[in-house]
Amino acid sequence: MITISTVSESLDLDPRFVVHRELGRGAQSQVFEVYDRLLDTRRALKLATSSRHLRRFRTEYRRLAELRHPNIVRVYDFGVTPNALPYYTMELVQGAALSHFAERRDVPVLGLLALQALDALATLHARGWVHRDIKPTNLLVVGRGRSALLRLIDLGLLAGVGRPTRAAGTLTYMAPEVARGERVDGRADLFSLGLVLYELLLPASAPRTIEQVSVRMRERLVPPRASTRPSPRRFLRLSCASSSPTCSHAPRCAGSGRDSRRGPGRP
Ligand SMILES: Nc1ncnc2c1ncn2[C@@H]1O[C@H](COP(=O)(O)OP(=O)(O)O)[C@@H](O)[C@H]1O
Ligand SMILES: [Mg+2]
Repeated sequence: MITISTVSESLDLDPRFVVHRELGRGAQSQVFEVYDRLLDTRRALKLATSSRHLRRFRTEYRRLAELRHPNIVRVYDFGVTPNALPYYTMELVQGAALSHFAERRDVPVLGLLALQALDALATLHARGWVHRDIKPTNLLVVGRGRSALLRLIDLGLLAGVGRPTRAAGTLTYMAPEVARGERVDGRADLFSLGLVLYELLLPASAPRTIEQVSVRMRERLVPPRASTRPSPRRFLRLSCASSSPTCSHAPRCAGSGRDSRRGPGRP
């Protein structure tokens, strides 16, 4: 029988941490809920799947540690297991990914969460960083209604504004310039956030094939007709503008995106 202690031992973690369950996993990491014996508290612990990720993991931890923002996950400790896997601990976000948040189609609540996401992104962009992997599973939500709180996680693909990059991220939400491996700025994150919001409100718009994804990268999103229910037209117009591949009037960073929430098309 597999017990919690055998899982902790097989991961070769410091005995300070007792693994409770797996919270999620990505290509290069696993995230666990752990009990921190030393501090007598529960945390999330992100563990790399290979020692080759040491540099990237350490950078991710250091970037997160530099940020103090209510909408960005807080990190605590960094370490390396005896078998050379880097890990870091962070606050345990006891909520759901935005895509599974119960009130995700409630326009006023989603509007508040969108502002929180823009606030978090504005902080990254002001430091000259681009997240590059904005998608529902990297936007966690705790609480309900007007007190719902969003936490941005996963700075694993962070890039410097204007620095050359290689294509990386999640194709479904990827900005065209990211897919082409070009230099990026905050508009790439706003593009992705726009798609996330658009898709939450209009789930039928979610692309199902690679052709649909590529059309979405090339063409502007269609603003919904007045008859569409729900009818958050202004909100969707903003997400359409953010996700405009031509980017001619898309805000350049989340700070201006937040200020333009009254709608695009301003002078
Ligand atoms: N602090 C946290 N609290 C709760 N769940 C988390 C936390 N961090 C990550 N997760 C869960 O683990 C998943 C993977 O974490 P993430 O940091 O995005 O890893 P990756 O870089 O591999 O994508 C997330 O989508 C989420 O479900
Ligand atoms: Mg992730």
